[in-house]
Amino acid sequence: MVKGMRFEMNPLSLHKQNHVFVKFAVSFLLLGLGFRLFVSDSIRYSPVVEETHPLSEKTESPQEVSFPAQTPVSIDFPRKEEPVSVHFPGKENQTSQNVTVKCDIFSGDWIPDPSGPIYTNESCHVMEDHQNCMRNGRPDSGFLYWRWNPRDCELPKFDSAKFLDLMRDKSWAFIGDSISRNHVQSLLCILSQVEQAVEVYHDEEYRSKIWHFPSHNFTLSVIWTPFLIKAAIFEDINGVSTSEIQLHLDELDEKWTDQYKSFDYAIIAGGKWFLKTAIYYENKTVVGCHHCPGKNLTELGFEFAYRKALRLLLNFITSSGHKAFVFFRTTTPDHFENGEWFSGGTCNRTVPFKEGEVDMKDVDAVMRNIELEEYEKAAAIGSEKGVTLKLLDTTHLSLLRPDAHPGPYRQFQPFAKDKNAKVQNDCLHWCLPGPIDSWNDLVLETLVNG
Ligand SMILES: *[C@@H]1O[C@H](CO)[C@@H](O)[C@H](O)[C@H]1NC(C)=O
Ligand SMILES: *[C@@H]1O[C@H](CO)[C@@H](O)[C@H](O)[C@H]1NC(C)=O
Ligand SMILES: *[C@@H]1O[C@H](CO)[C@@H](O)[C@H](O)[C@H]1NC(C)=O
Ligand SMILES: *[C@@H]1O[C@H](CO)[C@@H](O)[C@H](O)[C@H]1NC(C)=O
Ligand SMILES: *[C@@H]1O[C@H](CO)[C@@H](O)[C@H](O)[C@H]1NC(C)=O
Ligand SMILES: *[C@@H]1O[C@H](CO)[C@@H](O)[C@H](O)[C@H]1NC(C)=O
Ligand SMILES: *[C@@H]1O[C@H](CO)[C@@H](O)[C@H](O)[C@H]1NC(C)=O
Repeated sequence: MVKGMRFEMNPLSLHKQNHVFVKFAVSFLLLGLGFRLFVSDSIRYSPVVEETHPLSEKTESPQEVSFPAQTPVSIDFPRKEEPVSVHFPGKENQTSQNVTVKCDIFSGDWIPDPSGPIYTNESCHVMEDHQNCMRNGRPDSGFLYWRWNPRDCELPKFDSAKFLDLMRDKSWAFIGDSISRNHVQSLLCILSQVEQAVEVYHDEEYRSKIWHFPSHNFTLSVIWTPFLIKAAIFEDINGVSTSEIQLHLDELDEKWTDQYKSFDYAIIAGGKWFLKTAIYYENKTVVGCHHCPGKNLTELGFEFAYRKALRLLLNFITSSGHKAFVFFRTTTPDHFENGEWFSGGTCNRTVPFKEGEVDMKDVDAVMRNIELEEYEKAAAIGSEKGVTLKLLDTTHLSLLRPDAHPGPYRQFQPFAKDKNAKVQNDCLHWCLPGPIDSWNDLVLETLVNG
């Protein structure tokens, strides 16, 4: 592992003077893990594997996690990220902006909510083990007793009966990466109060699934397409990557586009996978890469690829001729503190941040700005063509919830045998129940009043 990290770090030290680059690179490492955490049941950090492909995903059978909590790194990372000016729509003077007549449901605070979540690990059976924090032994439960309170309006709690009535004979898809899967599980848990879903399909890796709600004839899908565009991810029989990801910036992933016209509703989100090492293609020709030292290719930066991908997919949605109701969700922040994922970073806070107590990390701010810019252009075109495109701008409200990640409790009873055990923390995905449930409150509110 240490060797693996050095391999990663040395190329970066060439760019020491460029803090932004370094910060992106760090986040890139960190999030690579985040998603890997999700995909594999468990991970093994094999020095051999790490040395060649530190971010390779493995879907092999469960292995023990052994992870040094303090991995030495060869460069000095700036600890405190400088605040970045981020544009939050709706925070402007609203009297002069008659577009947002109602209020901005994404701007507000987390306030105490003694009533707590509407489901538990006992009532919901679809939550992934890694996000079933209470079952895994998380000792504190205070994080369950908060609700999102928009500043200038009421946000009703999710009404499952109302939602399912709206969804009669309809089809809904969550399209994206493991955070989209986290999100669909939250929705399934909430809906299970009214009707249990029947799983009718899963792919080989259990990453894409379809459920049916028989008494409402409602079909709910999750499609695993972490890049949304065509990507080749090379893995050998053990699931170990043998080559860099190849990303086709001018081709969408047919996994979701082939089905797109069957969906009445969709929530689409991109994000952190774009931080990984990748070779970029356009017109089937290599045009550059992100983070590929030694390859004699132009470093184009993940921003280049992310913007192209979003533009392509939003253009597909607005010009498809299919009048779906599409939510475009913004990126989700992580909360590793006192280190990164590879250097003992944790997320052991037990209360939310208040507005102004935390700054968005550079990488999240950059991603979100690209998302907003591309969304705004597409939404204008969409409205002319009868396509409803809504922003599900969960980045900022999620940033205020450092207390609600699994942390060490992504594993079952991590400290049962040794209370000082060194365990890998997950400070990216969200515990269920947890604040990701409020994303659904925002979805329903947007459907009803948006
Ligand atoms: C909002 O805009 C109105 C008119 O443009 C102006 O009178 C008012 O002072 C502004 N308020 C704030 C808080 O900027
Ligand atoms: C704002 O919108 C309302 C209704 O949509 C309209 O009646 C009003 O004149 C608008 N105000 C301005 C300043 O455009
Ligand atoms: C639910 O979590 C509690 C701890 O809060 C635990 O005792 C119980 O075994 C869990 N149940 C299931 C079904 O995971
Ligand atoms: C169920 O919904 C689908 C559309 O999602 C529709 O084609 C089908 O006819 C419906 N089935 C029944 C029994 O209403
Ligand atoms: C793509 O490549 C083909 C041949 O490989 C060429 O004919 C075509 O003009 C290229 N298209 C673009 C947009 O560059
Ligand atoms: C790198 O690529 C350029 C242009 O494609 C080429 O001229 C140069 O010889 C290459 N350098 C190496 C070391 O391969
Ligand atoms: C949280 O973790 C930090 C180390 O990252 C540790 O210093 C601190 O004591 C922990 N706080 C609690 C409440 O466990």
